[in-house]
Amino acid sequence: MHDSAPCIEDVSGVYVSDGEVNQIVERGALCRTDMAFDGAPYTTIDLSEIDTQMKSVPTQEAFIGKMVGAMRYFFGRRDGSYSDHFPQQNDENFPFKGFVFNGPPGSGKTEGVKEAGRRLHRELANEGIEVRLFLIGPGHISHKNYGESEQRMRRVFQDARDKGNNNTRTILLFDDVDTLLLSRDDSRAQEWTGALNSEFFHAVDKLQTNHTMIMATTNKEQSLDDAVKSRLWVEDAPAPTLDEMKTIAGSAIPMKIVNGKTPDEMLKLAGERIEHHLADGRDASFRLARMAGIEVLIREVVGWE
Ligand SMILES: Nc1ncnc2c1ncn2[C@@H]1O[C@H](COP(=O)(O)OP(=O)(O)O)[C@@H](O)[C@H]1O
Ligand SMILES: [Mg+2]
Repeated sequence: MHDSAPCIEDVSGVYVSDGEVNQIVERGALCRTDMAFDGAPYTTIDLSEIDTQMKSVPTQEAFIGKMVGAMRYFFGRRDGSYSDHFPQQNDENFPFKGFVFNGPPGSGKTEGVKEAGRRLHRELANEGIEVRLFLIGPGHISHKNYGESEQRMRRVFQDARDKGNNNTRTILLFDDVDTLLLSRDDSRAQEWTGALNSEFFHAVDKLQTNHTMIMATTNKEQSLDDAVKSRLWVEDAPAPTLDEMKTIAGSAIPMKIVNGKTPDEMLKLAGERIEHHLADGRDASFRLARMAGIEVLIREVVGWE
């Protein structure tokens, strides 16, 4: 470290997810060519908390159920698990490394993976196994300094391996992975993206699926590099149905008579708002459903015309 070097503090990355911008400010110091980044290249999600905001809807339940089933097979130790079926397996060579879930923005992919993690965390605790989830968004990795992004990518996999033991299992949620790993055919793909892709593929190839699994999300399957698709299982994550969206909208509506309107009447209005938005060409999503509920709340309850 050069003591006299001017330091830039608060090196920040901007993580854009489906139009939502979350600032991830990493306290670090950038001093000439030396880099001291304190922030981890991922966020550890607490899987022991129950999410009271989550509503159970069949389409997302099916998706969560499949994920829990797959991870139970690879992470668990009981009869009928992967380690039971392949006790002698050299894990690095096993060609399955995880999933990429493809679905429209707001269809509950990210939340679905977290919920699968929470359920598995509870379930595998009975086998003495601790499940962890590292969330990796583009802002965690992308860095303007040459080589830094690759280094951060490498650290994700290193930490998954080294900061655990025989009783830990790590889910690596690469969120909106298309923004991280552009296709080599993509005109936006710069040289550094190629290097970052290679880093990712190299690490994925060495992954031991009975300890670490990739759960990636995307809403742009077509912009994913073929090398991603050849390593990870691409699976559709469907958007909620109209009826499910109406159920979700209900969580923003008071369950009592307000300004002469019953909850059922307000729910019906929210349903109409949803149908109106869909007819307008908006994609079905949890977000749209919640917005419709809030629109009714603002108009009917707050009285905003
Ligand atoms: N089952 C659910 N109940 C209530 N809200 C949900 C549910 N699933 C997702 N959401 C909410 O809907 C929004 C979009 O979900 P998200 O998982 O971010 O979608 P995606 O990752 O597919 O873009 C988020 O605000 C999320 O918290
Ligand atoms: Mg998402």
